[in-house]
Amino acid sequence: MADYVLAIDQGTTSTRAIVFDHGGTIVATGQLEHDQIFPRPGWVEHDPVQIWDNTRQVVGSALTRANINHRDLAAVGITNQRETTVVWDRTTGKPVHNAIVWQDTRTQAIVDELAGAAGPDRYKEVVGLPLATYFSGPKVKWVLDNVDGAREAAERGDLLFGTTDSWLLWNMTGGVEGGVHVTDVTNASRTMLMDLRTLSWRADIAADLGIPVSMLPRILSSSQVYGHGRAHGMVPGVPIAGILGDQQAATFGQACFDVGSAKNTYGTGNFMLLNTGTEPVPSEHGLLTTVCYQVGDAEAVYALEGSIAVTGSLVQWLRDNIGLFHDTQDVEYMARKVSDNGGAYFVPAFSGLFAPYWRPDARGALVGLTRYVNRNHIARAALEATAFQTRDVVDAMRADAGIAPTELKVDGGMVANELLMQFQADQLGIDVVRPRVAETTALGAAYAAGIAVGFWSGEADVAANWAEGGRWSPRMPEDERERLYRNWRKAVTKTLDWVD
Ligand code: G3P
Repeated sequence: MADYVLAIDQGTTSTRAIVFDHGGTIVATGQLEHDQIFPRPGWVEHDPVQIWDNTRQVVGSALTRANINHRDLAAVGITNQRETTVVWDRTTGKPVHNAIVWQDTRTQAIVDELAGAAGPDRYKEVVGLPLATYFSGPKVKWVLDNVDGAREAAERGDLLFGTTDSWLLWNMTGGVEGGVHVTDVTNASRTMLMDLRTLSWRADIAADLGIPVSMLPRILSSSQVYGHGRAHGMVPGVPIAGILGDQQAATFGQACFDVGSAKNTYGTGNFMLLNTGTEPVPSEHGLLTTVCYQVGDAEAVYALEGSIAVTGSLVQWLRDNIGLFHDTQDVEYMARKVSDNGGAYFVPAFSGLFAPYWRPDARGALVGLTRYVNRNHIARAALEATAFQTRDVVDAMRADAGIAPTELKVDGGMVANELLMQFQADQLGIDVVRPRVAETTALGAAYAAGIAVGFWSGEADVAANWAEGGRWSPRMPEDERERLYRNWRKAVTKTLDWVD
């Protein structure tokens, strides 16, 4: 009997494999970090071969720790860092370049040229996204323009593009010996190449970017059998049956199935998604329109998304690049030693500013400094930056969707930080709620895969398994909340127009 579902969560900093039982409880986990490669300022790469090796290892460890083997698995689901672009040769199985990560800003010139006189919203009506370095399409163009022989090979039909979901699926299902080249609607909606309404590739936009359509994966729903683990692989014969971009997976795992329900994930960046139902809602306030999920033949469900590039990675940067503390958890300990930020505001515009500003010319700034400010204030300012950026996004959602959330479901690594969660509730003026199973990203992918093979019956099972694990209510007086936020907005203005 297959009593378990395995989820592979291929994230920005690590790859994890998690075994879940029917109650949505974690049975065992394997996790490995991969290298963050920074060849130049603003460039961020990963090695796709290392990511594939790590995936095989973590799946092995999770199955061993759960004391099960592939025969105990009903299905495998994949969730992934979105937009990160892999281009590989279908005849050798080798990537032609490192993966270009979503945070990477090298495509600025490509994006500016495409925008031309029409401006950054040239394709927004069709794809839901402004032209920005964040998305995959311009990254593919960069590879074809800059890797020797790549364009010719792509035109011959030898190269394949995929986000890391497609890269893993192709390798898991056979690689050069007939690997399946597929992505799901949520990942495809982050390329700038997919028509949000028809859920198919736009040949005209691909042509504008010089990308042969033959290198694009087939777009399927988020929950159906795409293929089976190859013979002699890590999960031979097991159906691979769920794919969701990691933020959409968390939305699914948080059971945000009703129109107006929202979740916010606190990872390397922050990503808030608001379910807007079966019609895409255009944004006037700097949000993205994106596919939230599609279960099999059912209609696709859309979301408005506020993407923030740098939140948790600011804490990592303070640890790794500045040495402010040795362990990221110490940021809360230090921040608690002071009662406020001492006047300091930290705007971590390391990849420019994403939602709702979309200002690639911005760079990070620490402002409001006096000799009074010490390292604890800086730790506090770093945490507060996450909450202020989230408020920027919630305000944009209120304006765009006309929906005022009455509470916010949260997940991700930083929700363990009590000080941040309290400050977040204070800044938003609504309750912040954490689920009991915090691994909602992997759980969402597991659910999508399990639903496709009948292990779970559908969204109702997911909702029934969701349980509250923590709640924070606003405590700060309104005038203080607004004073702090006004200062934050002023600090943001100091980061703009930095890069010509
Ligand atoms: O859009 C980027 C996002 O999918 C990355 O998420 O959790 O891997 O940092 P994460």
